[in-house]
Amino acid sequence: MSASSLKCDGSAAGHGACMVNRRQFLLYSGAGAAAASTMTITLFPGTAEAATQKARVVGYPRKRIARLSELKDHHPLDFTYPDNFANAQCLLVKTGGVEAGGGIGPHGDVVAFSYLCTHQGGPLQGTYQATGDQRTLGPCPFHLSLYDLRRHGIIVSGQAYESLPQVLLELDGDDVYAVGMMGLIFGRDKNLMES
Ligand code: FES
Repeated sequence: MSASSLKCDGSAAGHGACMVNRRQFLLYSGAGAAAASTMTITLFPGTAEAATQKARVVGYPRKRIARLSELKDHHPLDFTYPDNFANAQCLLVKTGGVEAGGGIGPHGDVVAFSYLCTHQGGPLQGTYQATGDQRTLGPCPFHLSLYDLRRHGIIVSGQAYESLPQVLLELDGDDVYAVGMMGLIFGRDKNLMES
């Protein structure tokens, strides 16, 4: 796929188009990017705001976080990613057969996200909700932001203005691996503290 053809429409099917590679993450770094580790991407292709940028490619750790066969519908599993530093708390959840963008497994219903609200870092533990076809995290206990887990953590309502960072997953046999992160973790100026 060429960089200029990247298209992310928020759908489950479109999730792959958001990813150059599940084990890579693009940090928009402009003129400061080093030539040996950069690639050129087009932001907002096909729009008046289309712009070419250098992006730095950073590798994430591949961390086994669960066995698919042991996950129960609507029972979030807590883990840390991409490290054990501050604000690394995440949840993995099986949404009960409701396909979600970036979801893995036979039904595409296993997804993972940061637990930190993107507004001011409110803790989202214990706020997973399954109502009809809706799968959400929130409302945040601080200012009530609510995130849609079926659509890459976009904001449903509230004070936040950034989607909830989504942990990219891979399935290898019965093992679920975290392999990357889409979106900046609250409270960090970069996701990988040691990069
Ligand atoms: S910290 Fe979550 S809505 Fe403000």
